[in-house]
Amino acid sequence: MPIDSRFAIFRSGLLLSATCALLVLLSACAGENVQNDAADAPSDTLTGLARYAGVQACEACHKEIYDDYIQTSHFRSSAHANLETIHGSFEEGRNVYQGQENRRFSMLTTRDGQPFQSEEHKQRDYWLRREAHHFDIVIGSGKKGQTYLFWMDSLLFQLPISYNVAADTWILSPGYTDEMANFRRPVGPRCIECHGSYLEAMESRFKVGNMYDRETLMLGISCEKCHGPAANHVKFHQEHSQEKAPKHIVNPPDVSRERQLDVCALCHSGHHTAIKPTFAWEMGAPLDSFLLREPFDPEAKLDVHGNQVGLFMQSKCFQESADMTCTTCHDMHKNEVGATKTFSQRCLSCHTVDMCNMTPQVGAETAADNCIDCHMPNGKSDVLLMQVGKDMEALVVRTHHIAIYPEASQEFIRAH
Ligand code: HEC
Ligand code: HEC
Ligand code: HEC
Ligand code: HEC
Ligand code: HEC
Ligand code: HEC
Ligand code: HEC
Repeated sequence: MPIDSRFAIFRSGLLLSATCALLVLLSACAGENVQNDAADAPSDTLTGLARYAGVQACEACHKEIYDDYIQTSHFRSSAHANLETIHGSFEEGRNVYQGQENRRFSMLTTRDGQPFQSEEHKQRDYWLRREAHHFDIVIGSGKKGQTYLFWMDSLLFQLPISYNVAADTWILSPGYTDEMANFRRPVGPRCIECHGSYLEAMESRFKVGNMYDRETLMLGISCEKCHGPAANHVKFHQEHSQEKAPKHIVNPPDVSRERQLDVCALCHSGHHTAIKPTFAWEMGAPLDSFLLREPFDPEAKLDVHGNQVGLFMQSKCFQESADMTCTTCHDMHKNEVGATKTFSQRCLSCHTVDMCNMTPQVGAETAADNCIDCHMPNGKSDVLLMQVGKDMEALVVRTHHIAIYPEASQEFIRAH
C-alpha cells in the first residue's frame, strides 16, 4: 500500500534537515578552503580545523599512497549520505522496515533525489507519515553494517534504521527494540572522533552533548590522524619544491612503540572517558592525558567496539618482541581485507612453519597460507547484537589475542 499522496507532504523536521543537508554540502566546500586559509596564515598560529589539510591535499605529492588509501575502510568509515554511500536498498519492496504491525519505516527519496527515512503509522487502510528525516551522514564503510545520522540545526542524531550487510537488509539501529525505535538518539562527539576526522562541539546552555559547529565537519578518517595535522607540511613543500627532506609531519616509526600504539588505541580500545575536549589528541601525544582508559578486561566479550589493542598486548608475540606494533601486520595505506595469505607471510617474518606443532597434521603449504584461522580465530560478538527480522544476530569479529586455540584448530582441520 503506497503512502497516500495527501500525506506525502514533508513534516517540518524533514524541511529542517533539508536546509541542514545544504549546510553540510557547504561545510564540505569549507574543507577545500581550509588549505588556502592555511597557506596564507603564519605557520605557528594555526588552530582548530585550519591545522588540517584534508586527504585530498596529499594526492598531489603522494599519489600512489593516496590512490590506495581511498579504497580503505578507514577512509570510507564516514561519508556524506547519498544513494552511492548508503548501501541499503531504496527499491520498492526492499525499502521498508516493518516493525510492529501498525508501524513501519520506509527509505525514500525526495523528488530531487535526497534520501530520507520516514516513520509511518497504519490507520485503517492508509499509512500515515508521522515523522521523517534526511540521511545526512553515513557511519560505517559497509563491511559489517552502516548507521546513519541526521542534523536538526546544530544537533546531531542517529536514525532509527540501520543496514546489515550480511543479511543485506534494513534493521533497527543496534540497541533499539521495535517499541522504542525513534528519532531522538543524540550522537556524542566520540562517535565522530572514531569514525571521522574533525568536528567542533559547541557549548550549549542546555548542556546537550550533541551540538556542533557543522562548518567544521571533516568526514572519513584522514591521513592526518596517524601523521599529525599537516597544513604546515603541505604549505612548506608547496613553497619549497626542491626540498626532499620531510618537514612538519610525523612518520609513525619515528615515535616510540607506545605512541605508535596510542594512535590505534584512540579508536580500537573501546569507548573510555574523555578528559580533554574531543579531537584535542594529535599523533605523538600520550593518549592517557586525553582519555581515562579503563584497564583491559580479559573477560570482556569480543566486539567491533571492543579492545583490540588490549587483546593484542596479551599476546606472547607482542610481549616477547621488542618493537612489534599493529603495523607489523597491517599496511595502513592498503585495503587488505581477507588477505589471509599476506597476513600469514607477516607471521613468517618472525616464525617459521616448522615452529608450529600442527604443521605435520595440516601440511606445510596449508599452514603457511593460513596461520590466522587457528591463532586469531573469528568469534561472535555478544555485545553488538542486531535484530534481523525476528532473529538476533551477532557480528563476527577476529580476536587479536594471538594464542593457541585447540577448538578453532580442530574446526580448521575438519574444514580442510
Ligand atoms: C607539495 C608536496 C607535498 C604535499 C601536498 C604533501 N606532502 Fe608529504 N611529503 C612531501 C615531501 C617532499 C616529503 C619527503 C619525501 C618523501 O618522503 O616522499 C614528504 C614526506 C611525507 C611523509 C614521510 C615523513 C617521513 O618522516 O618520512 C609523510 C608521512 C607525509 N609526507 C604525509 C603527507 C600527508 C598526510 C599529506 C597530506 C595532508 C602530505 N604529506 C602532502 C611533500 C608533500
Ligand atoms: C580515528 C579512529 C581510528 C584510528 C586512529 C585508527 N582506526 Fe582503524 N578503524 C577505525 C574504524 C572506525 C574502523 C572501521 C571502519 C569501517 O569499516 O567503517 C577501522 C578499521 C580498521 C581495520 C579493519 C580494516 C578493514 O579494511 O577491514 C584495521 C585493520 C584497522 N582499523 C587497524 C588500525 C590500526 C593498526 C591503527 C593504528 C595505526 C588504526 N586502525 C587507527 C578507526 C580508527
Ligand atoms: C572508540 C571508537 C569508536 C566509537 C566511539 C564508535 N565506533 Fe563504531 N567502530 C569503531 C571501530 C574501530 C569499528 C570497526 C572495528 C572492526 O572492523 O573490527 C567500528 C565499527 C562500526 C560499525 C560497522 C562498520 C562496518 O563497516 O562494518 C558501525 C555501523 C559503527 N561502528 C557505528 C558507530 C556509531 C553510530 C557510533 C557512535 C554513535 C560509533 N560507531 C562509535 C570505533 C568506534
Ligand atoms: C591509520 C594510520 C595511517 C593513515 C590513516 C595513513 N598512514 Fe601513512 N603511514 C602510517 C604508518 C604506520 C607508516 C609507516 C609505515 C612503515 O614504516 O612501514 C606510514 C608511512 C607513510 C609515509 C612514508 C613512508 C612510505 O610508506 O612511503 C608516507 C609518505 C605516508 N605514510 C603518507 C600517508 C598519506 C598521504 C596518507 C593518506 C592518504 C596516509 N599516509 C594515511 C600510518 C598511516
Ligand atoms: C615481530 C615478530 C612476530 C610476529 C610478526 C608474530 N609473532 Fe608470534 N611470537 C613472537 C614471539 C617473540 C613469540 C614468543 C616466543 C615464542 O613462543 O616463539 C611468539 C609467540 C607465538 C605463539 C605462541 C603463543 C602462546 O601463547 O604460546 C603463537 C601461536 C604465535 N606466536 C603465532 C603467531 C602468528 C599466527 C602470527 C601472525 C598472525 C605471529 N605469531 C606473528 C613474535 C612474532
Ligand atoms: C600478527 C598480525 C596482526 C597484528 C600485530 C595486528 N593485527 Fe589486526 N588483523 C590481523 C589479521 C590477520 C586480521 C584479519 C584480516 C582479514 O581477514 O581481513 C586483522 C583484522 C583486524 C581488524 C578487523 C577486525 C575484524 O574482525 O574484521 C581490526 C580492526 C584490526 N585488525 C586492528 C588491529 C589493531 C588495532 C592492532 C594493534 C593493536 C592490530 N590489528 C594488530 C592481524 C594482525
Ligand atoms: C590447524 C591450525 C593451525 C595452523 C594452520 C597453524 N597453527 Fe600454529 N599451532 C596450532 C596449535 C593447535 C598449536 C599448539 C600445538 C601443541 O602445542 O600441541 C600451535 C602452535 C604454534 C606455535 C607455538 C609453538 C610452541 O611450542 O610454543 C607457534 C609459534 C605457531 N603455532 C605458529 C604458527 C604459524 C606462524 C602458522 C602459520 C604459518 C601456524 N602456526 C599455523 C594450530 C595451528
